[in-house]
Parts: sequence; C-alpha cells; structure tokens
Amino acid sequence: MSVDSVFRTRSLGVPSEGLPDQYADGKAAKVWELYIGDIQSRTKEYKSWVVSLLKQHGVRTVLDTACGTGVDSIMLVEEGFNMVSADASDKMLKYALKARWDRRREPAFDQWVIEEANWLSLSEDIQKPGAGFDAVICLGNSFAHLPDFKGDQSDQKLALRNIASMVRPGGIMIIDHRNYDYILETGRAPQGKNIYYKSDLTQDISTSVLWVNNKPHMITLDYTIHVPMATQQNLPEVSKFRLSYYPHRLESFSALLKEAFDGKMQHNVFGDFQTYVPGQSQVPCYFIHVCKRTA
Ligand SMILES: C[S@@+](CC[C@H](N)C(=O)[O-])C[C@H]1O[C@@H](n2cnc3c(N)ncnc32)[C@H](O)[C@@H]1O
Repeated sequence: MSVDSVFRTRSLGVPSEGLPDQYADGKAAKVWELYIGDIQSRTKEYKSWVVSLLKQHGVRTVLDTACGTGVDSIMLVEEGFNMVSADASDKMLKYALKARWDRRREPAFDQWVIEEANWLSLSEDIQKPGAGFDAVICLGNSFAHLPDFKGDQSDQKLALRNIASMVRPGGIMIIDHRNYDYILETGRAPQGKNIYYKSDLTQDISTSVLWVNNKPHMITLDYTIHVPMATQQNLPEVSKFRLSYYPHRLESFSALLKEAFDGKMQHNVFGDFQTYVPGQSQVPCYFIHVCKRTA
C-alpha cells in the first residue's frame, strides 16, 4: 500500500445529512469474495479464537451488525450459533441471502435471519430479543466506514451506542478497526499478514488521506483487483472500486466504546486476535475490542 496523495483542507465540502452506502454501485460486492481471498483460509485465522470466546461467555444468540456477504455469519451459523445478520447495503446482503438460500435445507441455515439495518437506526431496524443478544459483532474493519461529516463524531457515537444497546447485560461486543495509529504515523500499513483481506488477486491499493483542521479525517482506498476467468463470471478482467474509512485511533476508539456503554463494561484489546501489549515489537494490522456489558 502506498500513500500517493495527501489532501489538506480546513472544512469538508460534504453534506452533513444522509450517509451514502459506499457499496451501492455493487462493484465491491461483486468481487468481495475475490478480495477476501479463500474464505476458509480467512476464517481459520480467527474462528477458534472467536468461537471459544463466545462459548466462554455462554453465547447462543449473535447479532452480526456488518455481515456484508456473510463470511463471518456463515462461520458462526456452521458453529451452531443462532445468528441474526444485518448490513446497510442490499448489494452486499444479496450474496448473504443467496448463501442462505443455497443451504436452506440445513436447519441451521433455514433459521438464519438476515435483515437490512443501519447502525444509525438499529433499534428500529432490528428487533432486540428480550434484554438483548448474548453477543454482537462488527468485524472486518467495518465500523471505520462510518464517516464524521458533522465533525463532532456524533454519528459515530450514536451508531456505537445503538450497537452496544443490542448487547444484553453480561453479553459481549466484538468490534475491530485497522491499526490506523501505525498507518497515520508511517504512511503505510503494518507489514504483518492482513488477516481479513489477503487475496493475491489484489493488484493495487492506492491511498489518499483527507485532513481537516490538521487532523486526518478520512482515508480513501482505490482498489484494483484482477479477476481470473472474468468472462465466465460476467465480470470485467480488472475490477476497480473505492472505499473510504474514518481512521480511528486506538485510544480514542476505546473512549468512544466506554461512552457507548455508559462506562458499564469491561474492555480488552487484542492485536490480530492475540494478546496485545502496547509497544510490542510485532505491530498488529487490526485491533479487536472485546467489551463485556456489566449492567
Ligand atoms: C468492510 S465491509 C465488511 C463486511 C464483512 N464484515 C466482512 O468482513 O467481509 C463493511 C460492511 O459494513 C457495512 N456498513 C457500512 N456502513 C454501515 C452502516 N452505517 N450500517 C450498517 N452496515 C454498514 C457495509 O455495507 C459493508 O457490508
């Protein structure tokens, strides 16, 4: 990854209302599973960690708040959890719905619930079971998609509060983001293996950072993916799509999480699904936050 352009601006010329679905043109959705790489090899990186954490906490019901094409939800349906999977993008959900349909004769898949839902209106979009779900997940650097158009993080605070409100007392939330501290400090991604997105078909990811009031405000990645046997799949040989991310820093994101739970939570941070010690020599690509609601 290279930082090939850096914009600096004092104010954002973007509307404060109406958050666009970055996946609406369907370009990323079409090649998402090519971008991920082999799905089994992706999920095997963290499946046993996630499943044993969920089991340790006696989890049965799980809400995936950013299921996308369904990669992590399918892994958990296969592991016997009662899944409700949600996403704001119908283009991404289309692939999760197809996977469910294809496996509908398996009872676990027949019971898998998939809903279109936005973090900003989650309580209207998703029916909370009783006091809440045993676990809520938001993985794959999804939350960073939510921009801060108003400049006060109010949308991000609202979304996190809504997501946290879905967790029952004693339940857990697992949410992650890339190691933006490292990316912003060095201008490049950490050298370690990218657990989530490791396709060898990715030809290029060019990166732009938008600065507002001397603070990094948005990172835009332009992806170029080489599509093998493209014509058979009705895809272009080279697929290009653009996604933007708000670069959450570890410390400030931890503070946002604490606020979302009104301080009533135990918080642990992991690096690439392993114990994380600040300053450790191996720089994680992703930070994974586990929040246990205490009341
Ligand atoms: C980077 S993708 C990850 C998808 C999946 N978790 C994975 O790892 O493959 C981020 C997902 O978050 C969803 N998303 C972004 N903003 C959202 C919002 N405000 N509410 C709900 N989902 C949102 C997108 O539609 C997209 O499917």
